[in-house]
Amino acid sequence: MSETNLRLLVVSNRLPVVISQAEDGWDVEPAAGGLVTALSPLIKKRRGLWIGWPGCGPEAPVTSLLQEYSKDAQFDLKPVVLSQDEVDMYYHGFSNQTIWPLFHDLLGHCLFDAENWSAYVDVNRKFAEVIAESIQPGCFVWIHDYQLMLVGHFLREMGLDYRLNFFLHIPFPSRDLFRRLPWKQELIQALLEYDHIGLQTVNDYRNFIQSVRSLVPEASARSYRRQSRVRYGQREVILGHYPISIDFHEFNSAAKSPEVADAAWYLHENLGSKVLVLGLDRLDYTKGLLERLLAFERMLEKYPDAQSNISLVQIVIPSRVKVPDYLDLKQLLDEQVGRINSHFSHHGWVPIHYMYRHLGREQLLGHYRACEIALITPLRDGMNLVAKEYCASTVDDNGVLILSEFAGAAAQLGRGALIVNPYDLESTADAIYAAYIMEPEERRRRMRTLRNEIKRNDVHRWVRWFLDDTPEAGDRKATSLAEHTTG
Ligand code: G6P
Repeated sequence: MSETNLRLLVVSNRLPVVISQAEDGWDVEPAAGGLVTALSPLIKKRRGLWIGWPGCGPEAPVTSLLQEYSKDAQFDLKPVVLSQDEVDMYYHGFSNQTIWPLFHDLLGHCLFDAENWSAYVDVNRKFAEVIAESIQPGCFVWIHDYQLMLVGHFLREMGLDYRLNFFLHIPFPSRDLFRRLPWKQELIQALLEYDHIGLQTVNDYRNFIQSVRSLVPEASARSYRRQSRVRYGQREVILGHYPISIDFHEFNSAAKSPEVADAAWYLHENLGSKVLVLGLDRLDYTKGLLERLLAFERMLEKYPDAQSNISLVQIVIPSRVKVPDYLDLKQLLDEQVGRINSHFSHHGWVPIHYMYRHLGREQLLGHYRACEIALITPLRDGMNLVAKEYCASTVDDNGVLILSEFAGAAAQLGRGALIVNPYDLESTADAIYAAYIMEPEERRRRMRTLRNEIKRNDVHRWVRWFLDDTPEAGDRKATSLAEHTTG
């Protein structure tokens, strides 16, 4: 097998496309997102294959749409078609009402439902069956995220003994939280059937090892400087931590374009306030949105001189609205924004500009450039790429990042950002005010530190880190793949 035949096979819950019905047929657009940016150069170079759920109903002619799309995309896409019941129980159910809240330390949002678990098992088996149709010796198989933790196990059950790599994009919880899961044993043992597991941060990595130690005593773990090796049965599993990032250069240069500068200027002019604070999140209770509104309100009460001069621009991107807790959150946000605005607004000034919608690329970058402060305060987050995108787009160094200590990104960005505990409204309010009055020189110094860090550890480095730690793939070292990544 020549190394040029090493084919990248990426598997994620969603395919990196959005399929929608147009007036005269169907539209297939590339999806925005960190993983697509990270893997696109590599998957194109290798004419790789991406397997995942197309995210649309059975009425769409998915196979032909994807075949057509892959001609331009320069990689192949293969769908895993799911029925409505599967979507309800595997995706909305077990993935997003059990694993998602549990792994984000929010036990109160968890639903432990045996039927949902069984749908999760079945859909993971279905993914494995689709992979099995395409897998060949020499493939580099990289499976992503919490929706697909059992896929490796099912591939083994089918007798496929390829090297299997897995990356968890969300946090891994502490042993104490993980053991609340009725299916913890099945899950942790299934994970140990991958050959290489990547986690975002040292904290996630330690949590994972502790769960392995307490739940799988027959496994033995040896730790090295940046990785551990777990011997379990005949297999040796490599565990490592690799913080995902963004394409710094892409954001940095796009943010300099005249169109983005115009969008930023227009936004600032229209919103009226001297200082704009940006919040940008998917609708999600893990993002600390309600706590953020209350902290902003507290800042206005505590520091009345900021009133009339500072506004929060909060963009919420619709997400998972079929999950009841997400819909409830949407309603609570509407109420809180209304309450705060009606209390503080006066002619010519509104404290919170709230929008519940998707933003186009130019608008997104325009918001990053227009806002002097970014307020990113998740209660828990695997990484948080918005924090990194904001810094990469702050091309004039004139911006302050306020970041939750519970975002994975805090481990890397702690030196330049103002770090806050999002549950602590008083000190978050103080941090917003400190950012508001910060001297230009300090802003620039901090922002330069942040931008240098993100530039050095960009998404291409993330891919290389992961691939460099990968055990031999087939009869070739995976590092031969790494040499072909950009950056
Ligand atoms: C997080 C998860 C991803 C997921 C994304 C969007 O970033 O780690 O796996 O794709 O949220 O969520 P959605 O449920 O819309 O795919």
